[in-house]
Amino acid sequence: MGSQGQPEEGFNKCILVTGGAGFIGSHTVLQLLEDGYEVYIIDNLDNSVEEAVNRVRDLVDQRFRQNLHFFLGDLCKKEDIEKVFSLAKFDAVIHFAGLKAVGESVANPFRYYKNNLVGTLNLYEIMAKHGCKKMVFSSSATVYGQPKVIPCVEDFQLSAMNPYGRTKLFLEEIARDVYQADPDWRIILLRYFNPVGAHPSGQIGEDPKGIPNNLMPFIQQVAVGRQPELNVYGNDYPTKDGTAVRDYIHVVDLADGHISALQKLFKASDIGCTAYNLGTGCGTSVLEMVAAFEKASGKNIPVKFCPRRPGDATAVYASTEKAEHELGWKAKYGIEEMCRDQWNWARQNPWGYISP
Ligand code: WQD
Repeated sequence: MGSQGQPEEGFNKCILVTGGAGFIGSHTVLQLLEDGYEVYIIDNLDNSVEEAVNRVRDLVDQRFRQNLHFFLGDLCKKEDIEKVFSLAKFDAVIHFAGLKAVGESVANPFRYYKNNLVGTLNLYEIMAKHGCKKMVFSSSATVYGQPKVIPCVEDFQLSAMNPYGRTKLFLEEIARDVYQADPDWRIILLRYFNPVGAHPSGQIGEDPKGIPNNLMPFIQQVAVGRQPELNVYGNDYPTKDGTAVRDYIHVVDLADGHISALQKLFKASDIGCTAYNLGTGCGTSVLEMVAAFEKASGKNIPVKFCPRRPGDATAVYASTEKAEHELGWKAKYGIEEMCRDQWNWARQNPWGYISP
């Protein structure tokens, strides 16, 4: 489902995917394999489990199963990156690995700076040493801070509201500096809006460790009875129903966006270091999301209205024109499919990958 590439696209190309056992990483790895790429995953399993990789292997056509390799490793250990680079010659890297919980980053900024910045700097150094200078980087709409105007356009002024967001902002600036210093690099920065949903098989999906920070995994846990109710952070925003608005995007659309970015890296010698929004361009409120999930699941999601969450923006959604025109990519799935597929994953895996 979803891939825009053709199997011949990936033949004879080998991709390193950091964080490939994670939510977006696992969905992207599945699409890469289906498009004929050979894929090596390096992941420290800090916020993921190897079962996700096993599920991807089971889902992919048996012709491509031998193209998937998993390496348990940490980007903060140069020796781990060197080891994985000794296993294959990589044509490009898709770099997902990173800590991403906003609240946690406020409580523990050093852990976020060390993991997200040092890990990425190690990766750049060893990629260059091995002559691999093509990277798709997992950035985030968080670099738009509190946008004064929406939809967000890629050339907007950037800012960050928390240490997690600052790591993404700093890593975008580092990418631009790396390219300025050595134009042999080709780097695409993908700014995700709010990734939700799951592969339609229901075999892979979002399985955050601990209490979910994000809206949809929390709603998912209420629906399966793991949480009693959803705390809605703020119903006094100047929006259609008082709750905050976001641009939710199906994770399969997001995975497709990475395939399109990879194809661009291989085809466009003048890509330099360029940022693209990966969103739908549509804004959905928290209460609209709750209603859509109740409709998709047939479950009641009790809500409790709470004060606003510090640092939350009123409304954030993407301008999608640049990715459409330059990557030939556009999101295909709407809120209904996102909720349908997220429920299908939750219904089959109420406790995520590892049942208690
Ligand atoms: C969405 C809306 C909350 C939980 C962050 C990062 C972004 C990306 C996605 C990593 C907000 C409300 C949430 C809850 C709620 N992360 N909410 N009750 O904050 O838009 O984006 O996660 O890639 O980079 O910034 O996503 O899902 O946390 O919140 O009412 O229990 O849902 O207040 O309005 P957010 P979110």
